[in-house]
Amino acid sequence: MAEKKLLEVELAGLKMANPLILASGIMGTTPGGLNRVAREGAGGVTTKSLGPEPREGHPAPNVVKVTAGYLNAMGLPNPGVEEFASELKEVELEAAVFGSIFAHNDDEFRRVARVLEPTVDALELNLSCPHAESLGAAIGARPPLVEEIVSAVVREVNIPVFAKLTPNVSDITEIGRAAELAGADGVVAINTLPGMSIDVGTRRPILGNKSGGLSGPAIHPVAVKSVYDLYEALSIPIIGAGGIESGEDLVETLLAGANACQVGTAIADTGMSVFRELNSWLADYLDSHQMGLSELIGAAHDY
Ligand SMILES: Cc1cc2nc3c(=O)[nH]c(=O)nc-3n(C[C@H](O)[C@H](O)[C@H](O)COP(=O)(O)O)c2cc1C
Repeated sequence: MAEKKLLEVELAGLKMANPLILASGIMGTTPGGLNRVAREGAGGVTTKSLGPEPREGHPAPNVVKVTAGYLNAMGLPNPGVEEFASELKEVELEAAVFGSIFAHNDDEFRRVARVLEPTVDALELNLSCPHAESLGAAIGARPPLVEEIVSAVVREVNIPVFAKLTPNVSDITEIGRAAELAGADGVVAINTLPGMSIDVGTRRPILGNKSGGLSGPAIHPVAVKSVYDLYEALSIPIIGAGGIESGEDLVETLLAGANACQVGTAIADTGMSVFRELNSWLADYLDSHQMGLSELIGAAHDY
C-alpha cells in the first residue's frame, strides 16, 4: 500500500495524514514555524503554550545540553493568546493544528480556549510544565483541579480537548482518569521531568531559573511506561511524547498504546527532516510486517 494511506490516522475525530505531531514549544513559537514543520511532513503541529497575557519567561540561559537530552526553563514565554490567534488566522496550515494553552484557573482557561478555538483544530491543555510556579504541573499533579479545568474547557468549546500530563506524580493514571472523567477527548503523555545542571567551574546552577525540564532520549523509557499504564487505565486516545528520535522509539511508543506521537527534542539533534524519516521508517515497518497502523497500537499489551 502507498505510504500515504498506510499512515493515515483519526484521533478524536481529527483526520491526520500520519501519526506524527510537532510537540509544543519547539518551532511552534510563530505560525510560520508551524507551517515549516507541516511542510516537512508532520500530520499535526502544536503551538507553543499560550496564556491569557503576554509573558516574557525566565531569564537566560534557558536551555542546556545534558547527557542524552536537554534541560529547558523557558518559563512559558508567549505573546498572549489574542496576538497569536490573530497571526494564526492569516496562515493556512497543511496539518492538524493543536493549540496548547495554559492559565491559572478554570475561568482563565475558558477565556484562552474561547479566543484560540476558531483558529485551531484541537486544544491541548498544558497541565504539566515543570518550571512555572502556580501553572502547569502545579495544577496537573492534583486530580480535582485537573477535573475542574478539563470539564470547564470541554463545556466551553466544540473542538477536541487533550490534557497534557506530567510524569512527575506518584501515579499518572490517577491524573489521566481525572481528565477522562471530566470529558477530555484524549491525553498527551509526557511533558518534561524536573532536572538541574550545575557548572563545576562557576559552582552555580547553569539555567537562569536554576532548574528546568528534562527532554530527549533520557526520558523515553519514562514516556513508554506512562503510555503503557495509561492505555491500561483509560479508554480515550493517548498521544505519546518523550525522546522519540528513531523509528524504533516511535514504534515502541505505539506498541505501548499511543494513537499518535509528538516529536520535539529530536528536531534539535536531527533537524526537521526527522518527520519524513520517521514516517518513512514506520511505513517500511508496517509494509514488511504486513500490518496496519491500528494493529500496532497497544499490541504490547497482548503479552
Ligand atoms: C525548548 C522546549 C520548550 C518546550 N515548551 C513547551 C511548552 O510551551 N508547552 C508544553 O506543553 N511543553 C513544552 N515542552 C515539552 C515538549 O512539548 C515535550 O512534551 C517534551 O519535550 C518531551 O518530548 P521530546 O523529548 O520529544 O522533546 C518544551 C520542550 C522543550 C525542549
